[in-house]
Amino acid sequence: MDVRNEMLGYLKGRDAGFSLEQKFYTDPDYFRLDLEHIFYREWIFVGHDCELPKTGSYLTVQIGAYPVVVVRDAQGGIRAFHNSCRHRGSRICSGEKGTAAKLVCPYHQWTYELDGRLLFARQVGPDFNPAQYGLKPVHCESVAGCIYVCVADDAPDFGAFRATVEPYLAPHDIGNAKVAYESTIIEKGNWKLVWENNRECYHCSANHPELCRTYPEAPTATGVQGVMEDPEINELWRNCETVGLPAKFHIAEDGQYRVTRIPLLRGAVSYTMSGRPAVKRPLGNRVSGDTNIGALLLFNYPSTWNHLMADHAISFRVLPISADETQVTTKWLVNKDAVEGVDYDIDELAHVWIETNDQDRRIVEENAVGIRSPAYQPGPYSVEHEGGVMQFLEWYTNFITPRLEGETVPLSRVA
Ligand code: FES
Ligand SMILES: [Fe+2]
Repeated sequence: MDVRNEMLGYLKGRDAGFSLEQKFYTDPDYFRLDLEHIFYREWIFVGHDCELPKTGSYLTVQIGAYPVVVVRDAQGGIRAFHNSCRHRGSRICSGEKGTAAKLVCPYHQWTYELDGRLLFARQVGPDFNPAQYGLKPVHCESVAGCIYVCVADDAPDFGAFRATVEPYLAPHDIGNAKVAYESTIIEKGNWKLVWENNRECYHCSANHPELCRTYPEAPTATGVQGVMEDPEINELWRNCETVGLPAKFHIAEDGQYRVTRIPLLRGAVSYTMSGRPAVKRPLGNRVSGDTNIGALLLFNYPSTWNHLMADHAISFRVLPISADETQVTTKWLVNKDAVEGVDYDIDELAHVWIETNDQDRRIVEENAVGIRSPAYQPGPYSVEHEGGVMQFLEWYTNFITPRLEGETVPLSRVA
């Protein structure tokens, strides 16, 4: 049996209340199929508009085998290109971020405009037509200050996601914020383990002493069940809507993204050790930084989850590296006029989630080691606490199964 059929067999026979078979978390061929059918087809969150402040600002990202560069063009638009030179393929921009008047390949200095057109190629002969060698574009969209790209030839619709989440995100004015701090860690575990861990707080009380000061472990906060009936959550929604902030739980029909506001514990307004705001200037101009609007939670599979509060916002980006390695990048966003050392202190701002990320890394890595054991077998999820994990796997199964069924390319051709 080939790998694709084996994977399909497991997906069709799986018990939705149990974790997946070992190979989904460990096998390089399964990982390649995840890339091909999920990460190369979906919209992937890459960063924020405010990270590209001027013409020529760029950021780079690696989506599986695809290096991508995202640039601010001369008209102020944001574009993405395959970061692979049309001469002999060298990566053009190697730094994570930078600014360039033109995109110049370091190998033989082919020079591209910020709109991707090839402007100049040295001594290539009289018959050379530069119009045929522009950078290959990558689909790129920005919603309320968050940039997404899709490397598929035909990108899925972005409009429904935009229409849903923009009203929730826009009041936080992320497009006008600045990244006060960022961290990138590598978790030695499959990308699905990173997500499964994110989608439940069953593990929180024993592992996250800092986060548990402000973040509720109740499954109504992290998961998807019972949220509509929770009286405390409903009260927060009413209060938020009174000040013009959409707040109600909304999940996409196909389960790919969810947005909702949740109350933090004991009236906390921010993920600080005290629960008090970390930043004196509010993010956006709708409410002051100490107004209790809880936290706006957004996830969008397969690449990002976000927390937005009145005083700051945090974005998380999940990028798969191999069957058992995942890169997680976290960015803390604050009002662009907030001054470090005056309006906020990095340690106070970032402490809770730096610790939480490290604790989650350890959890995911231990999970991965245990799953690699020949003795591993899928185990049952807690119906009370792990509804979010089951929802994630339902999404994964529903997205990848028809794609595996329609796949006719031999496995050796899978990138
Ligand atoms: S590979 Fe880019 S200029 Fe030669
Ligand atoms: Fe966690």
